[in-house]
Amino acid sequence: MKFTQSIKEIGQPTSHKRKHAYDIQHTLGHGEFGEVKYAEEIATGEKVAIKVVTKSNYRNLEAQKHRLERFGTMSHPNLMHMKEWFESRDRYYFVLQYMSGGELYDWVEKESSLSENVARHISKQLLSGIAYLHEHNVVHRDIKLENILVSEDHEHVVIGDMGLSASLREEESQLYAVCGSLGYTAPEVHDRTGYSKPVDLWSLGVVVFLMLGGRFPYLGNDAATVAKEGKDRNIRFTRKAPWTNVSDKAKDFIRQLLEPDVEKRLTAVQALEHPWILEELPESTIKSINDAALHAHEHDDHSNDMDVDHPPPLQRRVTDTPKNAGAATGYQGGEGLDLQRSETKTDRQDDENHRLVV
Ligand SMILES: Nc1ncnc2c1ncn2[C@@H]1O[C@H](COP(=O)(O)OP(=O)(O)O)[C@@H](O)[C@H]1O
Ligand SMILES: [Mg+2]
Repeated sequence: MKFTQSIKEIGQPTSHKRKHAYDIQHTLGHGEFGEVKYAEEIATGEKVAIKVVTKSNYRNLEAQKHRLERFGTMSHPNLMHMKEWFESRDRYYFVLQYMSGGELYDWVEKESSLSENVARHISKQLLSGIAYLHEHNVVHRDIKLENILVSEDHEHVVIGDMGLSASLREEESQLYAVCGSLGYTAPEVHDRTGYSKPVDLWSLGVVVFLMLGGRFPYLGNDAATVAKEGKDRNIRFTRKAPWTNVSDKAKDFIRQLLEPDVEKRLTAVQALEHPWILEELPESTIKSINDAALHAHEHDDHSNDMDVDHPPPLQRRVTDTPKNAGAATGYQGGEGLDLQRSETKTDRQDDENHRLVV
């Protein structure tokens, strides 16, 4: 066994031997950058998730090493923790805390919509994670239901998938690459005049809207239309349930996040002070959250839920990266999203200098 292992290590980076410390099992998910596997550390039995990303996704491997070192020093209860990382000749392996409750996407899909108390409990945690990232001058750029992971008892959520995140050199630095996920991206991303931290608060506004209403806030099916609806403040609070039962405070909170003027949009710190977020959580909320966890694995048939007069209830959204913008990702050639324009010099510098891929 030892002999076979050492043969396998020939020509491999030294950290590759860490791969043998894990029993790598089934696939948990895959997206734009690679695959995430369930694994157990052999010595301790600890459950982990290992994200495997091919190195061809990175333009500058040396710079990526520096970013990983920097990322390794960041730690917050609502950001997915990276235990360690190792590499092979052509892949990176990121060992992450395992979140057995799955994606927030699945929870919202299963329940169609969440109560205000549950949504508030989740929103507070997300804001706390975003505030930490922003304090460290990191912009996530891909906050969405699929990238938020839930603990076994559903009480705890973490923001994952730092694949598009950008580390700002200075507080005032601007980003230019058109990327994110359709329906979640702030309108200013498509203006090509520069954007920064406020984009994460916009995406959070979409997440809160989805949690409470079970549908996207805008009807459009392409980036340009959604950006226009966003700029027009055309948020679809319908006169039907569940919106008829949602408080004005909650709607005000969403409006202040889905605010097209970035100067007026709430920052993460301000959002943590919003009256809706500050409202107390009744004790019964945690019980209903734990109940949701118990029923999380039961199968529901949503096949008859389509309603032709409304936007689709909920859809998974593919991440649009600076590299693939416009190419079969749900964006249908909206303004500024064709491949050529997304490969401008500013975008390449942006991608090269800021990406913090994990
Ligand atoms: N730590 C984890 N625990 C459990 N499942 C995870 C974990 N990390 C990722 N996943 C699953 O894998 C999917 C893809 O992971 P993600 O980091 O978002 O990669 P990608 O860049 O490919 O989108 C997630 O949406 C989720 O379903
Ligand atoms: Mg993802």
